[in-house]
Amino acid sequence: MPFDRSLKIAPSILSADFANFGAECEAIEAAGADWVHVDVMDGHFVPNITFGPAMCKAIRPHIAGVMDVHLMIAPVDPYIQAFADAGADIITAHVEAGPHIHRTLQAIRASGARAGVALNPATPASAVEYLLDSVDLICVMTVNPGFGGQSFITSQVDKVSTLHAMIGDRPIHIEIDGGVTPETAPAVVDAGADVLVAGSAVFSGGSVTDTAPYRANIAAIRNAASR
Ligand code: DX5
Ligand code: ZN
Repeated sequence: MPFDRSLKIAPSILSADFANFGAECEAIEAAGADWVHVDVMDGHFVPNITFGPAMCKAIRPHIAGVMDVHLMIAPVDPYIQAFADAGADIITAHVEAGPHIHRTLQAIRASGARAGVALNPATPASAVEYLLDSVDLICVMTVNPGFGGQSFITSQVDKVSTLHAMIGDRPIHIEIDGGVTPETAPAVVDAGADVLVAGSAVFSGGSVTDTAPYRANIAAIRNAASR
């Protein structure tokens, strides 16, 4: 898949209808989503539990584009192949999830998926200084991981600028995850982000039987970010 830095909107299905994941994935892609962001949580690394490889395998046929799997789990390594086999295009692990993130990223790439690394709000950009040749994506958490619908942490905008400078012209996406709305999107795109994850801002007001709000919500974020 060729690398391009055009703006991408990646709705998070954490805010979707848990009884209709397949239909929700199809609905957000039809509504203009570029990627589908899948938030895997283990109740250990974060204080919430969502779903695992079996659910990713179940929704794979309902996603025509990129399945962007965000692993909020620890340990990561024992589960990488299962998510790759389930069809994940991108597998992102948290730098805070264990002592050997460099090896984890190598294992993700060896599985056939593209490798992402995620940084919690307190983790400095310097944490990825020696990972720039091992990643295809850096996910900047703009909320504390575990839940949708939280407020954007504005201090992270500076981190995006720092990462953008560190990356230079390397083919690495900068993904923003948490509290993305039409109001918060412009600052992070101006700072250098090219992938915007949004859960509540995309799914609010809609449903699998009324998907018009999904299209309007995605367009509102894209238009605000492109202004
Ligand atoms: C939080 C997840 C985010 C979250 C985004 O741990 O990683 O992807 O679902 O949801 P909103 O956009 O509602 O903050
Ligand atoms: Zn996420």
